[in-house]
Amino acid sequence: MKFLNVLEGEAAWPPPLWLMRQAGRYLPEYREVRAKAGDFISLCLNPALAEEVTLQPIRKFGFDAAILFSDILILPMALGQGLRFAEGEGPRLPPLEDISLLKLERAAGVYTPVIETVSRLRQSLPTDTALIGFAGGPATVASYMLDGQGGGFYRTKELSYARPGFVRDVLNILTDATIEYLSAQVDAGADCVMLFESWAGIFPPAQFREFVIEPNRKISAALKARHSGLRMIGFPRLAGLMLGEYAYGTGMDAVGLDSVTDIRAARAVCPPGMALQGNLDPLLLKLGGEALEAAVRALLEDVRGFPHIFNLGHGITPDVPQAHVARLVELVRQSK
Ligand code: CP3
Repeated sequence: MKFLNVLEGEAAWPPPLWLMRQAGRYLPEYREVRAKAGDFISLCLNPALAEEVTLQPIRKFGFDAAILFSDILILPMALGQGLRFAEGEGPRLPPLEDISLLKLERAAGVYTPVIETVSRLRQSLPTDTALIGFAGGPATVASYMLDGQGGGFYRTKELSYARPGFVRDVLNILTDATIEYLSAQVDAGADCVMLFESWAGIFPPAQFREFVIEPNRKISAALKARHSGLRMIGFPRLAGLMLGEYAYGTGMDAVGLDSVTDIRAARAVCPPGMALQGNLDPLLLKLGGEALEAAVRALLEDVRGFPHIFNLGHGITPDVPQAHVARLVELVRQSK
């Protein structure tokens, strides 16, 4: 599988391609299935419908990888924390006060439907399309749990100084739960797994080491010990100058890059031969036209000869025209 070969360090050309949030609201067929499911969480927990929306962008655009349709916040919900998605507002959780609310033993029973979605997908996907399992990174998931929503994560930041022991306890539970959750996805047929540490960039260096690198390292070490040959992608978004330490320190096979990271600078600080993933600005996919064409060509030139997975630097937004996605796929695929 071309996608997995690149994770092993092969410089395939043209590079394999998928897009973060490739299943989503920019597709009318997604909106239709989501309406049928009723709400977003019900869609994540309905294996037949989650399978269908995972497959939609594969059928339409032929991406090299499919990502399981679920959300990083399903795991805290499975551990016992409340979760709802307010229409047009994003996730809302009751800010965590008491760690005894989180019950590791109950989680697997709640996320069973997600694992069933993985099994169904491995059966229904073309054999040359990689299936990516995923979870949120512990620091990112903890940030949503402690603040109760996205945004500045001010409570998380205050707690990380004022009550570091509390934050550590939450991270430890999440690290253990994430190992079990991802391990179940691999057993069910995921070909590789990605850890979305999307808010890694809010932590200063000492905390970045303790709250981001160390839990990510534990997760990759535990999973690789259990599943020999498993490949993992880490996405420490907005890591800035901490990227190299993250890449060396976590044992990931590849790192995802956000759009503000210079890809050559990233390559210089990562282990030689490590695959990189990214990092087109999602706004260009909305704009299309000459701006998109020029940026795609420039990115392709920057990654030529290196193991690379073509992607955006963050998820597709709902306002992206499908024709622009089709054009992006064409530009990458036709690249000589
Ligand atoms: O196609 C895919 O990439 C797979 C599915 C996926 C979703 N969320 C579906 C989703 C994945 C991998 C995620 C990860 C995720 N979820 C992250 C990490 C990546 C990132 O974007 O930084 C985060 C931070 C979340 C939490 C989350 N979920 C937020 C902040 C939101 C609201 C933002 C928005 O776009 O509305 C969600 C909702 C969400 N997750 C949607 C989808 C398709 C939109 C829900 C809908 O249909 O209304």
